[in-house]
Amino acid sequence: MTDNKFILDACCGGRMMWMNKHHPNAVYIDIREAKKGHIGKGFNPGHEINPDFVMDFRKMSFPDKRFKLVIFDPPHLTTLSESSIMRKKFGCLNAETWQSDLEKGFKECWRVLEDYGVLVFKWNDIEISYKKVLSFIKEKPLFMNITAGQKALKDGHHSFWFCFMKIPKEVRNDEY
Ligand SMILES: C[S@@+](CC[C@H](N)C(=O)[O-])C[C@H]1O[C@@H](n2cnc3c(N)ncnc32)[C@H](O)[C@@H]1O
Repeated sequence: MTDNKFILDACCGGRMMWMNKHHPNAVYIDIREAKKGHIGKGFNPGHEINPDFVMDFRKMSFPDKRFKLVIFDPPHLTTLSESSIMRKKFGCLNAETWQSDLEKGFKECWRVLEDYGVLVFKWNDIEISYKKVLSFIKEKPLFMNITAGQKALKDGHHSFWFCFMKIPKEVRNDEY
């Protein structure tokens, strides 16, 4: 892998969030692959999961401090049926192990992030509150964004984006 690949998407799925789905400076990984049409007739026919590397975010084969920016947008639901469209598109957390899976995933994202690098973590609290998730992530975000459309507000759930920076211990103050 060349040095100009300094951005990691640690669970890229269909890369729906990307403006350029093949950004030349990004490496895309996911635990699975899926061909166009995998969601089923009529549903998002162009959706595909085509990572550069099939890899588990809980145990990545990248060296420490390899990336300047890491994006972590893991599945956020535990209760989807095998045939659910949401599962096909976004994956599903294991109902028994989700907490340790996310904890391991975050730790790995942090390990492969260089000092002063930025980690963007996305969460949706339909099922599990973001406070719960932040309670077992050791690092603290610098700031967050709440995106809430009218429907989300009405239903009482939101997508959250959190921005972390890997500030080295020696330059952190006590309040970090
Ligand atoms: C919410 S989706 C990502 C959506 C993506 N950000 C987009 O813009 O389309 C979560 C993805 O995490 C993947 N995933 C789940 N467990 C994983 C693991 N242990 N390692 C790597 N990817 C994983 C799923 O396959 C799924 O594609």
